[in-house]
Amino acid sequence: MKISIIGAGNVGSLAAMRIAAEGLGDVLLIDIVKGLAYGKALDLEDARALLKNNYSINGTDDISRLAGSDIVVVTAGLARKPGMTREELLAKNAQILKEICLKIKELAKGAIVIIVTNPLDIMTYYALKITGFKPGKLFGMGISLDTARFTNLIAQELNLPVTDIEAQVMGAHGEGMLPLPRFAKVKGVSLDEFISDDKIKSLIAGTINRGAQIVANLGTGSAFFAPSAAIAAIVKTIVKDEKRTLGLCSYLSGQYGIKDTCIGVPCRLGKGGIEQIVELDLSQEELAQLSKSAAAVTQAAAKLFV
Ligand code: NAI
Ligand code: 2OP
Repeated sequence: MKISIIGAGNVGSLAAMRIAAEGLGDVLLIDIVKGLAYGKALDLEDARALLKNNYSINGTDDISRLAGSDIVVVTAGLARKPGMTREELLAKNAQILKEICLKIKELAKGAIVIIVTNPLDIMTYYALKITGFKPGKLFGMGISLDTARFTNLIAQELNLPVTDIEAQVMGAHGEGMLPLPRFAKVKGVSLDEFISDDKIKSLIAGTINRGAQIVANLGTGSAFFAPSAAIAAIVKTIVKDEKRTLGLCSYLSGQYGIKDTCIGVPCRLGKGGIEQIVELDLSQEELAQLSKSAAAVTQAAAKLFV
């Protein structure tokens, strides 16, 4: 299995390390900056003897080496600075993504493509339109990270292990995301049995703000430890054909009453890509919020096609 990661920055290089160390395939790290991906691959390769793990990793600035990839992860692009929203990255990252997607279309037609570059939902939609790939084969990583954040904040509030918590976030990976407390469970019991409404509201706000909170503290760049773990979990689900249900940014063609846009929804994932979009029984209010989140993606994406 050949797994290429385009963009050897913080997220891409750590994702490469996790994917390689889990033995999921032969990892190729690619970056436009001369020597960067190669240097990082050499460093990652040296760690093999210390980790006693004979994983396979290479690096290059030659994008034509994408050819023959089974999975391509796109982590190339600018990350936000303190005070910026993900949406403010749109114009610059769209330019970068377009070049990369044309190369993927030319060199790795059969690959499953995972978009990570922000603003995630708009970039995923744009990548689908540029490549013409089937929606089940090209999707984005966003709400699995947000779900991990919501899970973590609930676990901290209750002073319980994260493994006792099940949470659900849907919608855009941005200000319009929807942490859904009605679907959150603590050891199988509804979250509202444990926490007051006010506390739940503050956990929702904390989840939506988590990325910005990390950016503000880092001073430069954005989160990469949890994002790379989310990417590795998606790649593992595909490689091992686990058929797990994960939150992915997927093209919708009528599910949840939403058409022709990409947004975060629960999806069953296997070796062929997205096998099914899971339709949760949302309330009227939750559906309205999801539609609003999707409409904002559609509106922003339209700017790329004028
Ligand atoms: P970074 O700045 O550390 O790395 C980006 C890398 O992309 C750089 O090494 C740069 O040289 C490379 N690059 C730029 N243009 C390229 C091209 N045409 N071909 C190949 N490589 C190219 O940024 P970081 O932190 O790794 O984030 C990358 C992207 O992922 C950002 O857009 C960020 O907002 C996004 N992100 C998305 C998340 C999500 O949940 N969807 C989570 C975390 C980051
Ligand atoms: C985050 O949520 C930057 O989208 C990234 O941390």
